[in-house]
Amino acid sequence: MTNDFKTLDDLPDDLTGKRVLVRVDLNVPMVDGAISDDTRLRAAVPTIAELADKGAIVLLLSHFGRPKGRVRPDMSTALLVKPLTELTGRSVRFIEDCQGPEAARAIETMTAGSIGILENTRFHSGEELNDPELAKGMAGLGDLFVNDAFSAAHRAHASTDGIAHLLPSFAGRAMAAELIALQRALGDPDRPVAAVVGGAKVSSKLAVLGHLVTKVDHLIIGGGMANTFLAARGINVGKSLCEKDLLGEAESIFERAEAANCTIHLPYDVVVAKEFAPNPPSLRVCNVHEVAADEMILDIGPAAVEALGDVLKNCRTLVWNGPLGAFETKPFDEATVALARTAAALTRQGSLVSVAGGGDTVAALNHAGVAAEFTFVSTAGGAFLEWMEGRTLPGVAALERAA
Ligand code: 3PG
Repeated sequence: MTNDFKTLDDLPDDLTGKRVLVRVDLNVPMVDGAISDDTRLRAAVPTIAELADKGAIVLLLSHFGRPKGRVRPDMSTALLVKPLTELTGRSVRFIEDCQGPEAARAIETMTAGSIGILENTRFHSGEELNDPELAKGMAGLGDLFVNDAFSAAHRAHASTDGIAHLLPSFAGRAMAAELIALQRALGDPDRPVAAVVGGAKVSSKLAVLGHLVTKVDHLIIGGGMANTFLAARGINVGKSLCEKDLLGEAESIFERAEAANCTIHLPYDVVVAKEFAPNPPSLRVCNVHEVAADEMILDIGPAAVEALGDVLKNCRTLVWNGPLGAFETKPFDEATVALARTAAALTRQGSLVSVAGGGDTVAALNHAGVAAEFTFVSTAGGAFLEWMEGRTLPGVAALERAA
């Protein structure tokens, strides 16, 4: 990523009557037909409001769920009209397709400063195929394209990539903020840099770990995946989650880290229990070499948390993805909460730039009550991981190419 893209600052102040197609990521989680977390809707509001205030006809493009090219009423963006109306404080109308003559006719009746949400882009199979015809159909509805959906930028789809070949293209406010923060974290960071990588499985984050050892000075491994690394070091992890088929891969990460001068930190005390349940009677803290055959590691221990806090105190930049323990079940949230609070305190004091992302991570930081104190928390899941893998994100590349 070069951060070489145009933003809303490159647009004229007066956009009266210009039809601006804005790719947002309105893919919010739903529970029993209700939105369970509206973070992504709120993230889209500043760009929408700014363009509407400049007189644009704002046309929102988004996917919603994975309908696989079929029309699914439960995945219609019509469901998002009411919440978006409430969040923007402006009227938002629904347009029944994201391309084609009917959508064009509906848009013709819209006035300067009004907002419309087009139907789910994934109701067309051409969206995920990046079909040039669909991209043309969408582009035909607008004069300009703004991409404000970093969390969908890892998809080379018609509404994230194809369309940016056809219209003058700009990054929205949320997209620009993400790209600037990510550049500051891994592109051109203040050193030393630490990365915290947690979560259940090494297999889902092998590429992330492989890339990070070449980029950061300290790699802190937590969560279930730490067990695989401990096992690769010959430590008995009892009945903990452990990917035995990946011991060789873990060994190779150790070797690459050594070659790149990156220190890998694994816990030397851990919280174990015989069963995975809230506050189990068998819970105890022990040295990592003392895990019994019938115990499982469910969190890192207090001494390890303190040592990791000291690592962060000596760092200038932190990138965080994934919890350190089974944080959704008490008390296995304690290490994640404690280290997150240390990171937040260091950020407040001005000694650390802290950037976090990924679904579970945001939930964990919210649980610790410190998400707002981090320098930047990404709304992205898959896109954040692919960025941590060092991959080019097609949606970002399209903006850079357009610039
Ligand atoms: C996400 O939820 O991470 C984005 O909206 C992308 O969704 P997808 O994984 O269905 O492409």
